[in-house]
Amino acid sequence: MAGLPEEQAHYDDAMDEHRRLMLHIAELCDWLDEVEQLGMPRFLELGNRLQPLRNDLAVHFAREERDGYLAVPLARVPQFREEADELLGQHSRFLGDLEALSEHLQETESPFRTWQDARRRFEQLLAALRQHEHREAAIYRAAFGQPGEQ
Ligand SMILES: [Fe+2]
Ligand SMILES: [Fe+2]
Repeated sequence: MAGLPEEQAHYDDAMDEHRRLMLHIAELCDWLDEVEQLGMPRFLELGNRLQPLRNDLAVHFAREERDGYLAVPLARVPQFREEADELLGQHSRFLGDLEALSEHLQETESPFRTWQDARRRFEQLLAALRQHEHREAAIYRAAFGQPGEQ
């Protein structure tokens, strides 16, 4: 990467964070597959498992926003500022959606008629989250010319 040492450090930190988050999501997907194979709904457990993810995300978003969201790459590629503003706006929505889903799953009268309904809702959220992370990685790539991480 052609850049200053502090830019390199920032880039490395951002990619480490990104990898850590993707690993957390992959572990949840593995667990969902196991539940699927057992054929037993686990509404409450899924609700419980969403709390650590929500906390992990809250830390991740706070780190991203700490010194100005995407400020380092945006200094090089300011044409992505509008997209960055949109991505920043998604942070609080993800946290709110995860909180709401976790609460729904823990209610005695679950609003989900079937496990498939609950799983689908959760997978929609994960897909949106993955897309969010990929778009951030693409802005880093545009700024620093490195292949992004998946
Ligand atoms: Fe983000
Ligand atoms: Fe991120």
